[in-house]
Amino acid sequence: MSSLSLSIIPLLFLFMFFSDLPITQSSNNKSSLTYKTCKTSSDQNPNISLNFCLTSLGHGATSLRRLGLLSIRLIRRNVSTTRHLIKKLRKNKRLDDPLIKLCLTDCLELYSDATLMVKQARKDYKAERYFEANLMITSVMNGCSTCEDGFKKKMVISPLTNMNHNVFELSAIALSIINMLA
Ligand SMILES: *[C@@H]1O[C@H](CO)[C@@H](O)[C@H](O)[C@H]1NC(C)=O
Ligand SMILES: *[C@@H]1O[C@H](CO)[C@@H](O)[C@H](O)[C@H]1NC(C)=O
Ligand SMILES: *[C@@H]1O[C@H](CO)[C@@H](O)[C@H](O)[C@H]1NC(C)=O
Repeated sequence: MSSLSLSIIPLLFLFMFFSDLPITQSSNNKSSLTYKTCKTSSDQNPNISLNFCLTSLGHGATSLRRLGLLSIRLIRRNVSTTRHLIKKLRKNKRLDDPLIKLCLTDCLELYSDATLMVKQARKDYKAERYFEANLMITSVMNGCSTCEDGFKKKMVISPLTNMNHNVFELSAIALSIINMLA
């Protein structure tokens, strides 16, 4: 435990640093569409933080439809970045714990599937097939949860906690918007 966690600590700090960086509350315009949408979503779902939602969605969108599309785009970007990160971590010689390697292999598969699912979700969303889009995003959400749970089950520290959390929360936001439209 101690030697393996020591080897991960620098990485963990790196991720915490990066994921916590741009929390700037630039605009808090309470009459904006983003504010109203995020407020409703966070009131309805304890897994959605108002601040996270506002920071992620910004204040550019002019319709709920566009806001939904934006949320899916953010998931796509996050999923893609996380997938690349997992690939990098698997090659990292400092992460030589076989249990972690095993988890990362599972996560890579989950995130590769998620890449396809979020693509399909976007197609469904654009065609207003909200039920199907909901199913796809829900699967993405289950994927990042399963990835995170893998580390817990093997009792090793996850180097992906922040990434998994971001994908989870962005997906919750997308689902919330999709359900408003459906
Ligand atoms: C808030 O947003 C609304 C709608 O986007 C806009 O009309 C209004 O001018 C904004 N108010 C401020 C103080 O930025
Ligand atoms: C919030 O997330 C937990 C899992 O972390 C899940 O069990 C629960 O159903 C979620 N709540 C909502 C309202 O989606
Ligand atoms: C993932 O999404 C969150 C929330 O929008 C954002 O703060 C973060 O920078 C994104 N991370 C990556 C790697 O894209």
